[in-house]
Amino acid sequence: MTETVRYAALTFDDGPSPYTSNILDILKQYGIRATFFVLGQELHKYPKTIERMLQEGHVIGNHTWDHPDATKLSRFEIQHQIASTNEQIKNLTGSEVNLFRPPFGICNDEVVSVVHASGLINVLWNVDSRDWELTDPVPIHVRVLNQLRPQSLILLHDGDAFGCGPREPVLESLPILIESLCLLDYRFVTVPEFHQLAFPIEHHIG
Ligand code: NI
Repeated sequence: MTETVRYAALTFDDGPSPYTSNILDILKQYGIRATFFVLGQELHKYPKTIERMLQEGHVIGNHTWDHPDATKLSRFEIQHQIASTNEQIKNLTGSEVNLFRPPFGICNDEVVSVVHASGLINVLWNVDSRDWELTDPVPIHVRVLNQLRPQSLILLHDGDAFGCGPREPVLESLPILIESLCLLDYRFVTVPEFHQLAFPIEHHIG
């Protein structure tokens, strides 16, 4: 039997939102760092939350300004979505961003080429919590646990303003998910750490 080290990168999209500080509280309680793909237009409403994210060691990525389907935009519009959000993050935190996640996970060659030309890495996932599907009776942590792989890059949402609905189910499932992953010997990493471990996920899998 070979012992396999397992890694989990928790990622949260569509924030910041009123729920983000609750997510940060849970992550802090367990001493876990995660990656947040934020929306430019929401940032000015939550400057303290964004500051706290960085203080507590989380990583911030770009999720566009207002969550369009980037494949429906012109090259100039995609550039603007990315640049305005980078700028807003820089204004509020002084930090440069180097990760991008396309809204809905939808991208094509043009989107990816603009992302790369903007100096960003396009980040998708290999475990989809479908945490916006609120009528599904299966709890969110069970959905994730059912799809686990040795290196899991997990999609969750802390934002409620772009179709995900209330985030209480995520707040309820997150501690159970974290405890379950710990019992399964997963180590928690941020997306840059996940990439350093040589598990880039540039494309949808499964
Ligand atoms: Ni999104």
